[in-house]
Amino acid sequence: MTSDKNRVVIFDTTLRDGEQSPGATMTHDEKLEIASMLDEMGVDIIEAGFPIASEGDFAAVSEIARAAQSATICGLARANLKDIDRCWEAVKHAKSPRIHTFIGTSPLHRAIPNLTMDEMADRIHDTVTHARNLCDNVQWSPMDATRTEWEYLARVVEIAIKAGATTINIPDTVGYTAPNESAELIRRLIAEVPGAEDVIFATHCHNDLGMATANSLAAVEGGARQIECTINGLGERAGNTALEEVVMALKVRHDIIPFTTGIDATKLMAISRRVSAVSGFVVQPNKAIVGKNAFAHESGIHQDGMLKNAETFEIMRPEDVGLTETSLVMGKHSGRAALRSKLAELGYDVDGNQLADVFVRFKALADRKKEVFDDDLIALMQDEERSG
Ligand code: KIV
Ligand code: ZN
Repeated sequence: MTSDKNRVVIFDTTLRDGEQSPGATMTHDEKLEIASMLDEMGVDIIEAGFPIASEGDFAAVSEIARAAQSATICGLARANLKDIDRCWEAVKHAKSPRIHTFIGTSPLHRAIPNLTMDEMADRIHDTVTHARNLCDNVQWSPMDATRTEWEYLARVVEIAIKAGATTINIPDTVGYTAPNESAELIRRLIAEVPGAEDVIFATHCHNDLGMATANSLAAVEGGARQIECTINGLGERAGNTALEEVVMALKVRHDIIPFTTGIDATKLMAISRRVSAVSGFVVQPNKAIVGKNAFAHESGIHQDGMLKNAETFEIMRPEDVGLTETSLVMGKHSGRAALRSKLAELGYDVDGNQLADVFVRFKALADRKKEVFDDDLIALMQDEERSG
């Protein structure tokens, strides 16, 4: 993929962890379409699904694997031979396939299959070895890693590395960790687990406390070189790390987090809208980067500042994420300068007393309506011309 030590690999799991959100199920064709958009925008690894979960998932992963141009195609498998074989059958068609196998290692998760620590360690050894015999590219995840006892986590990570895992993913499955812990956990694993220098460490964060992006970036500072994320932060409960947020944070704050990705950020808005449409999950208006209001301004002070110099209130240009322009939303907080500029856009050159008059009428209208649209302003100007 890349040997640049400051390059972070973007692993997108919209089609696997994202699709696990209740109600976010996508059709076969929709999955293919999203996979092709992810591939084109420069996502390094696409986790295309969970092949053993259903015939439909198997078919989607297989077809995505066949169609992918440059992304590695990954499938998920639990820690058993049947899951891993099925996963391999689906991803093997890709130019670059990966098997991702996992098991819950925290005390709560160990209780579910009722395995002792030693039995689980043996299971990890056997399943990772099996996966590696099928595929050169194997990712292993200790689910709920951030609530797993340190000694046990270090022990099973070492076993997975020795059995042939090439990427070790450290999931914060329930979004419990905080940024300083996230960085420290990865740093310590890399420093203390034998063989750690031979694999890539990944971070996989959930957003239950709203810290997924911060935790992912902190993990990178701790040494992780793969971020697992989804478009719009789609994912179970409060979702996963949002791809658009980590990508833009690494671009905009490259001065303090000096890492790059291979993502073409100008494609972010289009894929965000498409994922929202096919999953049925509306993006909240104030969502960072891709929300409807992320580049919109209503207050007079902000609009005036934006008209003079966009950098006054924007740290990114809308074009950087694929939007054509900043939107000045006209409402009761808008000032005279924004009204004048908006009217000019609509073909009305208004100044002096006329502007003062129109401004009073505009404010009265804005008090009655939440948002004043272009058509409202045109009607207002037509009325002004008739009466004036
Ligand atoms: O959140 C999680 O632990 C997962 C694993 C399957 C990697 O999604
Ligand atoms: Zn997850």
